Amino acid sequence: MFQELGKVGLIYGSDTGATEDVTRLFESFIGEDLEIIEVSEAEVEDFKRFDVLILGISTWYDGDLQSDWEDYFETFKTIDFTDQVVALFGLGDQHGYAEYFIDGVGYLAEVVLANGGTIIGEWPTQDYEHAESKAEKNDDMFYGLALDEDNEPILTEDRILVWLDQLKGEYQNLHIAQG
Ligand SMILES: Cc1cc2nc3c(=O)[nH]c(=O)nc-3n(C[C@H](O)[C@H](O)[C@H](O)COP(=O)(O)O)c2cc1C
Repeated sequence: MFQELGKVGLIYGSDTGATEDVTRLFESFIGEDLEIIEVSEAEVEDFKRFDVLILGISTWYDGDLQSDWEDYFETFKTIDFTDQVVALFGLGDQHGYAEYFIDGVGYLAEVVLANGGTIIGEWPTQDYEHAESKAEKNDDMFYGLALDEDNEPILTEDRILVWLDQLKGEYQNLHIAQG
C-alpha cells in the first residue's frame, strides 16, 4: 500500500514510550517497507540509506530535545542530508507546554535543511491550541506532523493516515519534478 514511498526508515527517540507506541502505528500502516531504528542505536549511514527517512521525536523540559536525540545531536549536526528526503513528526503537549509545543521537530528540521535535505510532510498549525513552537515554519505550517498523545490521542491514528497519504503525493511530485 505504501510502496509509493520506496524503502522507508523511521528513526525515533522516546522517553516514556509514547513516541515508541506511535512507531508501532506507522509499522501497522506501512508494513514491511518500513524499518524502525531507535536513535540511540542509529549509525550515521542509517540517515542516508532510505528513499524516505522519517524522524520521530518528543519534546521535554520546556523545549528540550528528547534525551536520546539530545545525546545524538552533535553527531546529527554533522550528517550531510544532500539528496535525502526527510519527513518529521513530533509528540508534545499543546496545553501543558503551550510555549514549546513539539519544539524538537524544529531543532531537527533546522539541521536537515542546513545540511541540504529536502523536507516533505509539512503540517497545518490551525487545529492546535499551542501558543508558540520552534517547529513552526510560519504561522500556518509546522515542519512536520504534530501529535499530542497527552490531550488528543483519539486523533493520532487519523492524523498519521492523512499524513502518510500526503507524503506519498509529495514524494511522487518530487520525482516528477526531478524527471
Ligand atoms: C516534564 C515534562 C516536560 C515536557 N515538556 C514538553 C515541552 O516542552 N513541549 C512539548 O510539546 N511537550 C512536552 N512534554 C510532553 C511530552 O513531549 C509528551 O508527553 C510526549 O508524548 C512524550 O513522548 P515520549 O514518551 O515518547 O518521550 C513534556 C512532558 C513532561 C512530563
